[in-house]
Amino acid sequence: MEFWECQKRCGVESDLKIARDLPDDTPDFILAMLSDFENEAAKFCFSGAKGRVLDAGCGNGNLTLRALKSDSAKDRATEFIGMDFSRNMLDRAACRAADSPRAAFLQGSVTNLPFQDRSFDHVVSSGVLTCLPDSEAAALALQEFYRVLKPGGVLVVDFFNCVSHYTLIRKHLFRESIKPPEYVSPSEFRKCLENAGFQVQTYHGFDFKPCQGYLFMSRWRSVVDPYFFQEKLSSHLERRIIPRLPKTNLLGYRIYVKCIKK
Ligand SMILES: C[S@@+](CC[C@H](N)C(=O)[O-])C[C@H]1O[C@@H](n2cnc3c(N)ncnc32)[C@H](O)[C@@H]1O
Repeated sequence: MEFWECQKRCGVESDLKIARDLPDDTPDFILAMLSDFENEAAKFCFSGAKGRVLDAGCGNGNLTLRALKSDSAKDRATEFIGMDFSRNMLDRAACRAADSPRAAFLQGSVTNLPFQDRSFDHVVSSGVLTCLPDSEAAALALQEFYRVLKPGGVLVVDFFNCVSHYTLIRKHLFRESIKPPEYVSPSEFRKCLENAGFQVQTYHGFDFKPCQGYLFMSRWRSVVDPYFFQEKLSSHLERRIIPRLPKTNLLGYRIYVKCIKK
């Protein structure tokens, strides 16, 4: 909670630097890459969304703001509710969505949703299960998503893949701690979803590059930037290769899953 409450920068413009608290001198290609990722993630998360839509752990509204503007959701979704446990993040989201009458924001926790049973048609929770303290909290959140969805409703959630090449390098070469609920394997995550009563429909994997780039970019800014090349490689794989071979989505570092409440 403290971490999210002290994200200080705020503004009305939907500028990625503000939304993500990036340094002012972040290179343009990094901004373009992040913007592509968020557009593509929002497209997957909200495609086919209709009726009442919940963005659980909406942060500063990155994905909801994109959905409000997208053709796939804007005509069929009647109401977007953004919920987050951080008042600071919610204020930023509400500020950015001030001119969208169909969006509302309220405070609450994914482990104890402040909504009635079967009150949503579509629930999205991006980058949130991975922030929870343990696997029990993540399981509780999945139960809560199940409770508030109508039968046949859609849930989209994501996880970091503990068996992606990049995670394995970090674990075995750099001895980093790779633990649930932040990192799980695709089969473990599928099991958690099925235990909560969901039926998995599709996956969308992101980030196929050899190692994470933008977090470390400042080290390389003055020389030829190896991250530029790996971003290009990763986006080529994401756009040209992965869509032709659906199973390769499961090799991504970050994976979104779309499932249905049975
Ligand atoms: C990585 S951000 C993701 C924001 C947004 N969903 C996105 O994809 O851009 C994680 C968000 O989850 C929120 N969060 C973490 N734990 C939560 C909880 N138990 N209940 C509600 N929100 C939570 C944080 O406040 C933060 O805004």
